[in-house]
Amino acid sequence: PLVSMKEMLIKANEGKYAVGQYNINNLEWTHAILTAAEEEKSPVILGVSEGAAKYMGGFNTVVKMVEGLMIDLKITVPVAIHLDHGSSFEACKNAIDAGFTSVMIDASHDPFEQNVETTKKVVEYAHAKGVSVEAELGTVGGQEDHVVGSIIYADPQECKELVERTGIDCLAPALGSVHGPYKGEPKLGFDEMEQIGRETKLPLVLHGGTGIPTEQIQKAIARGTAKINVNTENQISFNKAVREFVANDQKQYDPRKILGPGREAVKATVIGKIREFGTSNKA
Ligand code: G3H
Ligand code: ZN
Repeated sequence: PLVSMKEMLIKANEGKYAVGQYNINNLEWTHAILTAAEEEKSPVILGVSEGAAKYMGGFNTVVKMVEGLMIDLKITVPVAIHLDHGSSFEACKNAIDAGFTSVMIDASHDPFEQNVETTKKVVEYAHAKGVSVEAELGTVGGQEDHVVGSIIYADPQECKELVERTGIDCLAPALGSVHGPYKGEPKLGFDEMEQIGRETKLPLVLHGGTGIPTEQIQKAIARGTAKINVNTENQISFNKAVREFVANDQKQYDPRKILGPGREAVKATVIGKIREFGTSNKA
């Protein structure tokens, strides 16, 4: 069923595993991720950036596509459709009105008071409709769509205050993670993570899941991380499979033949992540 993230993340936090958010770009991606989750009997979060939603046609297209696939593929595991890095109240409202079951309001680039104000407004609108809300503090490094930033660690005191004043369902404290590949080993602020998890009592979100070694993933889960976002790793897998296919069969022009291997590669990657994050058989 289509659900918010609230319950799945509370369960993950208690059970010490993490639900993956896998970003979607098109039908192939969505098909691959839903099939992977169903086969592994895992809850799953479909991440949709504003840019990806626009690429697919808009928020309504995304919701109808996911709903259609869930019927045709007989998906029984809990699925959340989540706006990734929502840039404004308006963007979150539009996603919710179209049927998204979860939103992230990323006002982390604004001054703290403004972040609180915007996040609070989103929570009021979302919770009235049973939609869950993720907020961010600090800055994730690297680049995602138009969101570019250098790394700024979240301040534990501000995290506590943001949570208390807004009533969000989960928090993404930026603690050294990066969107896209890491240059060298990631240096995550595990002490801050532990403190923020303990003081806010909320499931924490780890952005920039691509390229984090398994042992650091396990450390993060042990310190309260209940949601891990993965995007680039699927993009790399898809890209590699499609490139290999076309390199070996230059005459093929059937898009299903060309994109099919990409879809299979994304599915395999997601199955790997679900197992790594401990989410198999948790649906
Ligand atoms: O919000 C999306 C994620 O944080 C994705 O990060 O592309 O480095 O896996 P990634
Ligand atoms: Zn992110």
